Parts: sequence; structure tokens; C-alpha cells
Amino acid sequence: MGFDQQKEVDRRRTFAIISHPDAGKTTITEQLLLFGGAIRNAGTVKGKKSGNYAKSDWMDIEKQRGISVTSSVMQFDFQGKRVNILDTPGHEDFSEDTYRTLMAVDSAVMVIDSAKGIEAQTKKLFQVCRMRGIPIFTFINKLDRDGREPLDLLEELEEVLEIDSYPMNWPIGMGKGFEGLYDIYNNRIEIHRPDRFDGERFLPLNDERELAMDHPLKEQSIFSQVMEEVELLLEAGNEFSEEKIAKGELTPVFFGSALTNFGVETFLETFLQFAPKPNEHETKDGGEISPYDKDFSGFVFKIQANMNPAHRDRIAFVRICSGSFEKGMEVKLARESKKIKLNNSTQFMADSREVVEEAVAGDIIGLYDTGTYQIGDTLFTGKDRIEFEDLPQFTPELFMKVTAKNVMKQKSFYKGLYQLVQEGAIQLYKTYLTEDFIIGAVGQLQFEVFKHRMLNEYNTELIMEPMGTKIARWIDPSQLDEKMSSSRNILARDRFDQPLFLFENQFAMRWFADKYPDVELKTLL
Ligand code: G4P
Repeated sequence: MGFDQQKEVDRRRTFAIISHPDAGKTTITEQLLLFGGAIRNAGTVKGKKSGNYAKSDWMDIEKQRGISVTSSVMQFDFQGKRVNILDTPGHEDFSEDTYRTLMAVDSAVMVIDSAKGIEAQTKKLFQVCRMRGIPIFTFINKLDRDGREPLDLLEELEEVLEIDSYPMNWPIGMGKGFEGLYDIYNNRIEIHRPDRFDGERFLPLNDERELAMDHPLKEQSIFSQVMEEVELLLEAGNEFSEEKIAKGELTPVFFGSALTNFGVETFLETFLQFAPKPNEHETKDGGEISPYDKDFSGFVFKIQANMNPAHRDRIAFVRICSGSFEKGMEVKLARESKKIKLNNSTQFMADSREVVEEAVAGDIIGLYDTGTYQIGDTLFTGKDRIEFEDLPQFTPELFMKVTAKNVMKQKSFYKGLYQLVQEGAIQLYKTYLTEDFIIGAVGQLQFEVFKHRMLNEYNTELIMEPMGTKIARWIDPSQLDEKMSSSRNILARDRFDQPLFLFENQFAMRWFADKYPDVELKTLL
């Protein structure tokens, strides 16, 4: 009644903010939530530092590690759009789930620290977005501080990430001398500290891109300098192309300062204008599911475990791809052709945990899980069985040897190990000759969660021996010769029996590549 599915889908904007730790992702997220009215005070999302947790006393993991499950997905309305922001944890909380979250979004915002440029984690996350071909929007942050020259930053962006860029605005000064932004896209100037002038925040420009009115800014040399610089930039640079943005080939670049809330609102408005609405999703058999289909479908992209031994429940995060979700509805789990009634579900907000009433394509729902779901599972209603494409596996970088502390516990050790691997919590390898178990992860958190869950859910204490960082490369089984294994690499097989080498370092890998030029070394992603 009164529910127009198509209209609801069309107003959804689901994205992730990717960045290297400390670039300002949390600060910008908070500003966006403030605009959307989802929170009232800054400092709500990052409970970690302020001690003021987003209301989330329901899962112990949040208290133990300062991770807020409730801030995993944040939803708010802004100018008629329903915005879903998916969090991509960094730092010590970085895990495969961080990458998998990018499988569930329709676009990404990349936040860069203007003093640091492109950093390691940004680059990794960017590459996953690139692989999916989703639009990427760039926000260069901290202009209120002295940073690198804007042109220098754009050059680095284009070179390191191999993507074209288009400046949507351009800073007028920086640090103490930060006067504002030349909002190229909207043809106006946004004044950083209007209180120092006549209080006007936006100054319109005429068709010749000149200030249409008298203003003290006109007298400042930095102003004319910037206007000239941009003139040149627009002549020599890339052309603005909506089509290229949509394909992820061109990134619109915005400068601003999240901390002083400058340039963020204009960014949000423009971003929402170009960010895509939910799209079709491909199925394993080559079909496509339209977001407007009446039948419900979705896939599990993340499973968050509870670290509290008293509560074994987990939350499976589902991205809805079609239809609408209603509490209590019955769905089928494609992997097991099993029917499940979705009673216990939740939708995520920054400061409250709301029970989902109705959600459509683009939205994320959380399902309480006692071991039913695996990463990549498809849920659907309707007669025809749907199975979405598998989520990619990501090349792990950290490795540990793992054994059960108590030999008598071998049975539960194997059970737990295989189940958690199946679920996507960790990756598993066996050394070729000695058949030792090695687990692999992209972030340290995965090991901690694994250890914790093995103890609490499978009653198995582990001995875990860190092997440190390794470079994992797969090879074609037909090219395998056990003599290729040396002291600088470990030959192992993955759970699909595919051979791979774990190299000590880049040097060891290059040495191998020189010695066996015909052997192709492959990554997962
Ligand atoms: P993250 O989520 O990407 O890790 O970054 P976060 O927002 O936590 O920001 C990291 C630090 O950078 C914080 O300072 C934050 O206040 C600061 N910051 C964010 N945006 C801006 C900006 O536009 N300008 C300036 N000058 N600083 C900015 P901190 O001292 O590490 O943390 P806190 O104690 O202030 O929370």
C-alpha cells in the first residue's frame, strides 16, 4: 500500500568510503550522518576515542575491540535519497570482510589526506573497486592544514591508480591561508571563513568565470592565481564525462576539510547526483537479476562474529539485489535448497538498532545467524532458483602455522577449522610434504577472531605460530615440480588442492621468476 518499489529502488545510494587509516574517513562519515540527521553530535561514530559509543551495547565485540557493528552500515535520508554507507574497517580491524564489503556497494568514495597522497591501504581498496568497475569519487581532505600542491596530488592519483581525474573544485590556498574553494562544477566560490568577510558563503561567478560581485577576495593574489591555474587545468586536463564516471574510468575529485565541515555538503550533493542507483546483479548461470524484480534476492557478503562466549550469535550481512524484504518472510538458501524464515533481522543505523520493516534493492539487512550462513550465500524467493556469482577470494598477506594444543581435541580442531574456512573467516593451506596447516589472512583481526571462535565454539585451544608476511602466488598444477621449493619459499596447496608458493619477500619471488621464467605466478585478487 503506497509502496512503490521502483521509486524506492531509484532513490537508494549504497556506497563505501575507502581510505588509509587517519585520512579522515570517520570524520567525513560523521559529517554526512549529521547532514542526514542520523546523529546529532559529532563524535558518535568513533566511540573508540571519545568513549562515547554509538548505542551498541548488544554485542561484546564492540566493547572489546571498539568495533561498532551498528556503524557497519549507516542509513539516512538526504534530499529525497536514501543513503546507505557501508563501513570498511581499516587498521588492525582490516580483514577480508573489508574487501568483501566492496562487493556489496554500487560506488565508492576515496578519502585522501592532502599531506600524504595515495597510501597503501587506499591503493588496495581502490583496486578492488576498480576490478568491479564501479564509480569512484575522490575527496582530498585536510585542506585546513598545509599539504601537498593540488596539482601534484592529482598527478599522483592518475599515475599510481591509473585512473583519469576531473577536479570538481579547486582549493584557494591551504593551511592558514585557506580561503575557500573554487567550485568548478557549480561555477561559484565557496568561502572557507565567511565570518571574516561579509558573511556570504557562496559567491556566484559569471559565464566568464569571474566574480560577479565585488568582494575582498578579488584583491588577493592567490585568488587570481588560482583562477588562472584552473583555466589552464581545464584546457589541458580530462573532460568531464558522466559515462566515464559511471564506468569507473574517471574519478571526480573534490577538495575540502572534513574537520571544519568545509566542502562536505557540496560534495554530498554532487556525489548523490552522480552516484548510481542499484543495478542488475549477475547470476552464476549468466543471467541478470533486475533490482525491480518482485521476487526477493540477496547475498551474504560479511559475517560478523560475536566475541562474547555467552553469545554465540553472529550477524550475516545481506545485500538485497531485488524484491523487497519483509520481516518474517520465508526465503530459500540456494546452497542447501533450504527454507528459512527471516524473523530475526536488523537494519543498521549509527545510533540505534532498528528492526527492519521493509527494505529494497540496495539496502543491507543483518540476519542473526547461528551457523546457517556462509559468505557468498544467495537467498531468494520465487520459483526459480537463483545463485549469484561467487564472491572473489583475496590474496592473503599474513600467515600462521596452526595446531591444536591438545592432541585429544583433533576432531573438534578439524571440524572448527573446516567450518570457519567454509564460512569465509580465514583461508587454509597445507604444506606440500609435511601437511602442516597454515592459515592466511589479509588482516590480523581475522586470526584473533579465528582463535576466539575455535575456543568458544569448538572448544579447541590453538597453538598459532606467526610466519609473518609472505607473498602468496598460485601456479598451474601442470607446471609444478617439487624441486622448486626452497628455503625462501614454502610450497603449499589451498583447500581446492591448487598449488601455491609462499615467498619470503619480493626478492625471493623475483629470484624464482628468473629461475623459472615459464612458470606463471598468479594472485587471487
Ligand atoms: P580515519 O577514520 O580515516 O582513520 O580518520 P579520522 O576521521 O579518525 O581522522 C584522523 C585524524 O585526522 C583525526 O585526528 C581527525 O580529527 C583528523 N582530521 C580529519 N579530517 C580532518 C581535516 O579536515 N583537517 C584536519 N586538520 N584534521 C582532520 P586525531 O587527532 O588523530 O583524532 P581525534 O583525537 O581528533 O579524534
